[in-house]
Amino acid sequence: MPLLVPQLAIGAADLAAAFLFLFGLKRMSSPVTAPSGIFVAGIGMLVAVLASFLYVFAVGDAAKPYLMVNVGLAVTALAIGGGLAWWAGRTVAMTAMPQMVALYNSMGAGAAGAIAAVELFGNAAPGATRLVVTLLGALIGAVSFSGSLIAWAKLQGVIKKPLRVKGQQILNALVLAATLAVGGYMVFVGESGAAPLIPMPHLIGLFFGLALAFGILMTLPIGGADMPVVISIFNAFTGLAVGLEGFVLQNPALMIAGMVVGAAGLLLTLIMAKAMNRSVANVLFTNFGAVPKQTQGAMTGSLKPVDAADAGIAMRYAASVIIVPGYGLAVAQGQQKLYEFVKILQAAGVSVRFAVHPVAGRMPGQMDVLLAEAGVPYDLIFQLEDINDAFATTDVALVIGANDVVNPAARTDKLSPIFGMPILNADKAKTVYVVKRGQGKGYAGIQNALFYDDNCDMVYGDAQAVLIKMIEAVRGLGFAAAA
Ligand code: TAP
Repeated sequence: MPLLVPQLAIGAADLAAAFLFLFGLKRMSSPVTAPSGIFVAGIGMLVAVLASFLYVFAVGDAAKPYLMVNVGLAVTALAIGGGLAWWAGRTVAMTAMPQMVALYNSMGAGAAGAIAAVELFGNAAPGATRLVVTLLGALIGAVSFSGSLIAWAKLQGVIKKPLRVKGQQILNALVLAATLAVGGYMVFVGESGAAPLIPMPHLIGLFFGLALAFGILMTLPIGGADMPVVISIFNAFTGLAVGLEGFVLQNPALMIAGMVVGAAGLLLTLIMAKAMNRSVANVLFTNFGAVPKQTQGAMTGSLKPVDAADAGIAMRYAASVIIVPGYGLAVAQGQQKLYEFVKILQAAGVSVRFAVHPVAGRMPGQMDVLLAEAGVPYDLIFQLEDINDAFATTDVALVIGANDVVNPAARTDKLSPIFGMPILNADKAKTVYVVKRGQGKGYAGIQNALFYDDNCDMVYGDAQAVLIKMIEAVRGLGFAAAA
């Protein structure tokens, strides 16, 4: 009976945490409410972590001698982990976010795998269903752990090239089959009562070793360009692993959080794959990183450089401008100057809108976050399907730090790696200004025929520096012209 109170309190706290996760996630669906959604979900996580300390009051006699040591270790781990996360969260550059997500995802997956390991090593006869669920969680958690670490290494530039060997798919299939066979054998032996699991640490170790190897092998051949999609898949895996281990521990907060993360990761994967017009299987099993040489043919037309000041003044006298932001804007951290320029144009009576491509930048929603950070009102920001028809009746398309998302090859060049990807119709505007530093290619590594079009001018320079020049030029026209 004395255990009832802490158990009830743990249950109530877990449910409260689960509710906060769901409520926070709901609020994350709009950029207006997303910051508070992240805060609410964070509070949910805090509640769940603090509630786990209530187990101190519910431990059995056998565990009591280790109580203070374990609490001390848990607090130390929390302090180190929390401190590092606080520091990393404050210092990480926006463009390095995908790496950070990969790293955190591997930690979540590793935690799920560790729970499974504790269960497997600690339970002599856990029952068939529980054993199968534990092993499934262990497999998915271990694969996601090692795979996410490889994804991090690729995004961070530690691993520079996809590593492919002949017969890679067969090797991967064999390693997966071996992992499943070892897991199946453990279920068979554990269930038949022939031997409890504890005397089989070598088998448990072999199972984890094979699962970790499979995660590494399946991620190594995938090109860097596909890493954001891969991370999203691993995100779904981690959610699933956490949910399964939540079932094993009968912990509702873990179960619900796991399912939510798993479903969100899966949906995000599908959205990203659709936006790039590729199937998830195509991402996982083909070599997207390799760009066919045939697509690199000579461009017709010429590149026409223009001065930033001239382009700025031309936009001041346009009736309508659509801005296409891309990865380069995030690199240049030009969002504040961009919005300053937009406000000057608006004050002069120019209609300005933003067109955001679903995979612009290097992670989903990166452009929305960037523009929100600069204070751009949400009613100026349009997604691809809502604005694409408007380019044809627009005076100027200002493509700033974007490349692949406006590449017409996606419409016409069947050999192009981005063929079939919906693009923003910037080329249909009367005039196009492209701001970029030089001849650098986009993430897909291919040339862009738009830059050579008759209606397209190139404004070379770092996006932020170019915007400063544009602002100065329009302001230089004098108050009446600028406002
Ligand atoms: P990109 O095609 O990668 O092009 C970015 C351009 O920005 C480059 O051509 C570069 O040219 C320019 N740039 C870089 N730094 C700059 C700076 N400081 N100032 C001005 N320009 C600068 O970008 P995008 O159009 O946003 O397309 C995103 C790509 O990433 C797509 O291929 C997409 O499929 C891929 N991808 C995205 C995601 C998500 S979820 N967002 C996921 C997977 C893959 P210079 O070097 O000449 O300056």
